[in-house]
Amino acid sequence: MKILVTGAGGQVARELAQLAAKRPMDEFVFRSSTELNITHADSVWQAIADEEPDYCINAAAYTAVDKAEADPETAFLVNAEGPRLLAAACAAKGARFLHISTDYVFDGNASEPYREDDPVNPLGVYGASKRKGEVQSMEANRETIIVRTAWVYSAFGNNFVKTMLRLMRERPQLSVVNDQHGCPTYAADLAAALLHIIDSGKWTPGIYHYCNEGATTWYHFAEAIRDRAALSTQLLPISTEQYPTPARRPAYSVLDTTKFRSTFGAEIRASNLDRQNQNL
Ligand SMILES: NC(=O)c1ccc[n+]([C@@H]2O[C@H](COP(=O)([O-])OP(=O)(O)OC[C@H]3O[C@@H](n4cnc5c(N)ncnc54)[C@H](OP(=O)(O)O)[C@@H]3O)[C@@H](O)[C@H]2O)c1
Repeated sequence: MKILVTGAGGQVARELAQLAAKRPMDEFVFRSSTELNITHADSVWQAIADEEPDYCINAAAYTAVDKAEADPETAFLVNAEGPRLLAAACAAKGARFLHISTDYVFDGNASEPYREDDPVNPLGVYGASKRKGEVQSMEANRETIIVRTAWVYSAFGNNFVKTMLRLMRERPQLSVVNDQHGCPTYAADLAAALLHIIDSGKWTPGIYHYCNEGATTWYHFAEAIRDRAALSTQLLPISTEQYPTPARRPAYSVLDTTKFRSTFGAEIRASNLDRQNQNL
């Protein structure tokens, strides 16, 4: 089996690379943003034609949620046009396309976990660009599988856990938003889930929700990070209003993972900071 992974420098792709090292029977091809810019049609078609992968996992994205508000063109190019090009090239060359999307396609007005067919209503440019990527990749390739995930963290790249650990080591006191609810997701578990879809032999096109079990707020997540790291920073719960950001974020973006578990026969673990902390 040959699997092409885009966005090789990102959190999820780097966790896929860790897993790939343990799967010598499969051939993985990782392409960074400089090796394969997913917004360049020629490069995308050339890469799929040259590599002839069985599967393409698109782990490339424009993930800077606040920055996207000032740069919608780039966000839509990377998050909507890129997936469309990859999906179309995969369709033409007979490769299966596996794309990653986000809980930020929802507006957060729900009070129970979001299911895949709940209405979307992104609050910001990032969410809107990711939603357009969902629609366009499904239109370009009817076999596309999309996995929406949330609050991704890992030992790699930029994420909430690493930011909190840095700030907690610098400051005696930290204010953290306590009225946004979501599901922290360990990128290593997400990477394993993506490969599980492939391994399951149950390729069923459509959208799926995958996140680690256990909803929390950023404040309570920060508490867990502090306690696991045995730091003594005082944490103060604040409201979203008290921490204005360029992009609005959903107040509630907990994802219902029933469809993922029942379709692919997978168990989903609770978010486990201990596993991550070993690598930090
Ligand atoms: N992080 C989260 O909390 C979160 C939450 C929900 C969903 N997701 C989704 O999960 C997926 C993986 O996220 P992640 O956290 O692993 O992202 P990440 O760490 O920000 O990595 C994204 C990667 O995409 C690459 N990239 C950007 N523009 C590109 C382009 N035009 N062509 C090729 N590569 C490009 C980046 O390369 P450079 O660094 O060289 O630009 C980077 O290596 C994304 O689809 C994201 O939307 C993430």
